[in-house]
Amino acid sequence: MLILGIESSCDEMAASVVRDGREILSSVIHAQADVHAPYGGVVPELASRDHVQAVSGVVARALVEAGVEASELDGVALTAGPGLIGSLLVGLSFGKALAFRLGIPHVGVHHLAGHLASAQLGDAALAAPFIGLVVSGGHTALYRIEADSPPVLLGETRDDAVGEAFDKVAKVLGLPFPGGPALAAAAEQGDETAITFPRPMLDRPGFDFSYSGLKTAVALAAERRAPLDGAAIADISASFQAAATDVLVTKARRALAAEALPRLAVVGGVAANLRLRERMAEAGAADGFEVVFPPLSLCTDNAAMIAAAGAQALARGERHGLGLAAFSRVPLGESPWADGAGR
Ligand code: KG4
Ligand code: ZN
Repeated sequence: MLILGIESSCDEMAASVVRDGREILSSVIHAQADVHAPYGGVVPELASRDHVQAVSGVVARALVEAGVEASELDGVALTAGPGLIGSLLVGLSFGKALAFRLGIPHVGVHHLAGHLASAQLGDAALAAPFIGLVVSGGHTALYRIEADSPPVLLGETRDDAVGEAFDKVAKVLGLPFPGGPALAAAAEQGDETAITFPRPMLDRPGFDFSYSGLKTAVALAAERRAPLDGAAIADISASFQAAATDVLVTKARRALAAEALPRLAVVGGVAANLRLRERMAEAGAADGFEVVFPPLSLCTDNAAMIAAAGAQALARGERHGLGLAAFSRVPLGESPWADGAGR
């Protein structure tokens, strides 16, 4: 079964062909970092305009690189939300039109269901139930993932997402956009014990997170040490990264214990962070749980994960009509992808 996935929820236009929900035949990503770099963050209107120009070329390349004719496709999987509404609509409209022309089914996919499917693309043996930790620019949440029922939200951020905190701290430190990877690179030269930043929510029960106070604490520390030289930037980066990842590791451990589950999948852009991978692996070895990370190339937004999640949905018999709408905000586990107006 050949599924074309299209992902355009934020600032990447991506298309991918996946065979049988597992084998990635192509994964094309058109990034827009140069479009947004002058503004230090994603400008939604510029993102959707760039998507309009990129979408047909990106889909065509995904087919060529996979060696697949459009007529051979069995279905189309589209990110329907959450995300920037203008960005979502570009991939969604294009994909619906293509599926209509080809006379094949299409399904709307939740962006986080896509991220979670990326773990299974990396490790086919990963079987539910497991704990899913989603860490990205827009989300920080712990879920209990079941085989035959919707994911159960255990806890989530009350303010900023962890990736957003990486990006904002990087901006304060004068590091280039996109901030997360730049901060992680700077942290490699730093001492993570140089400054003890707060570990928000660690002293509270439950599985919620908060990153806005940590971000402010780092901004104040940077201000106090200004002007910052390379060594100071490295130390602040490493100390922030230690605090940010500490909370993720501790809450994930607690969730695994509370739910009595032996498996954890960590997905989303921040799952590309090597220090987080190291610390989670250490915790897994100490507590006796298995940790699964997607391959680095599948952590940040891509369409292979959408095709994989779409293949699962199509196999369950899900089909959506041409009225399939885009949703800027929608909880994982709810699928309001019925015909009707988006919001
Ligand atoms: O999953 P993703 O591509 O988009 C969303 O769905 O949000 O995640 C992007 C986020 C950004 O905040 C980016 O800074 C962060 O992932 N990120 C990283 C790293 N690579 C990407 N954060 C920390 N360390 C990294 N190596
Ligand atoms: Zn994402």
